[in-house]
Amino acid sequence: MATEQTLSIVKPSAVAANHIGGILHKLEQVGLKIIAAKMIHLTLEQAEEFYGVHRERPFFPELIDLMVSGPILVQVLEGEDAVKVNRDVMGATDPTEAAPETIRAIYGKNISENAVHGSDAPETAAREIAFFFDQNTIFPR
Ligand code: CDP
Ligand code: MG
Repeated sequence: MATEQTLSIVKPSAVAANHIGGILHKLEQVGLKIIAAKMIHLTLEQAEEFYGVHRERPFFPELIDLMVSGPILVQVLEGEDAVKVNRDVMGATDPTEAAPETIRAIYGKNISENAVHGSDAPETAAREIAFFFDQNTIFPR
């Protein structure tokens, strides 16, 4: 295992439902450190670029609609094996299939409004972190 960084997003539905604190608490409880964070409202262009890998998928239009529907809280998380640790505490994409006590099981409404985004691999994490944060706004510790 190595110290890694990963990107996490509290999606618009969870921000609107007042779940920022609950979600960040779950992340900190599993030992992830929040080393950068900001609230932003994605433009259509930003959302389409960020989720570009899903452009041809049937759920893409709805995904983009939801991601631009309100502000999001974007964070960089750091810790041992952070990519996997975050994916584990997030739970499965579909909240009905997410393990009990995972973020998506607790805070997800359905498969599209599933509370959080998390990078799926270290390489993806590096790209996604650079998409949102200048290096001098990240505070490893
Ligand atoms: O977010 P995660 O990596 O778990 O799933 P993904 O397969 O990378 O899909 C990205 C996002 O698209 C999901 O988090 C959902 O918000 C949405 N999605 C959806 O609405 N319907 C699906 N069948 C699959 C994904
Ligand atoms: Mg994904």
